[in-house]
Amino acid sequence: MTREEALESIKANVENQNLVKHMLATEAIMRALAKRLGEDEEVWGLTGLLHDIDAELAEGDKNTHSKLAADLARELGATESMAHAILCHNPRHGIPLETKLDKALVCADRLTGLITAAALDRPDKKLAGLEAGSVLEKFEDRSFAVAANREDISQCSELGLELGELVELGLVAMQGIAEELGL
Ligand SMILES: [Fe+2]
Repeated sequence: MTREEALESIKANVENQNLVKHMLATEAIMRALAKRLGEDEEVWGLTGLLHDIDAELAEGDKNTHSKLAADLARELGATESMAHAILCHNPRHGIPLETKLDKALVCADRLTGLITAAALDRPDKKLAGLEAGSVLEKFEDRSFAVAANREDISQCSELGLELGELVELGLVAMQGIAEELGL
């Protein structure tokens, strides 16, 4: 599967542009994580890009969400390990995170929410001037962006990454596509 094919399928299945931006942000962080950890950037990036492709198809049914996405990803040519990561990023299925790819996707998915909320909390609502230190402060403030699950983000330790390094890496990755993200 090429990135263009993945994007075409996203276009066909996702109308909400904020959701598309979330998937692009997750892709960017996954690519940066793969680079840092010596993993396959294309495989990790495409897993991040496709992970929520079924969010509208599932129509808010959390018991279906990510099952459909894993199937769609397989149809596009994703490997079983990519499909597994997509499937288990939704905790509703109770499938344990096994591989580095599984854990990275959960970290990246939740981190995009925290970083986006931190950017939108700035007067200019931009990523450019946002610093990792202030994202870390937001991380500690549990009443801020409550949907960004801190325990999931903290799983970066299982990838051999300190929280500070993950946040820095994620922030730089998202700043790199700030224009696409409209932030
Ligand atoms: Fe997501």
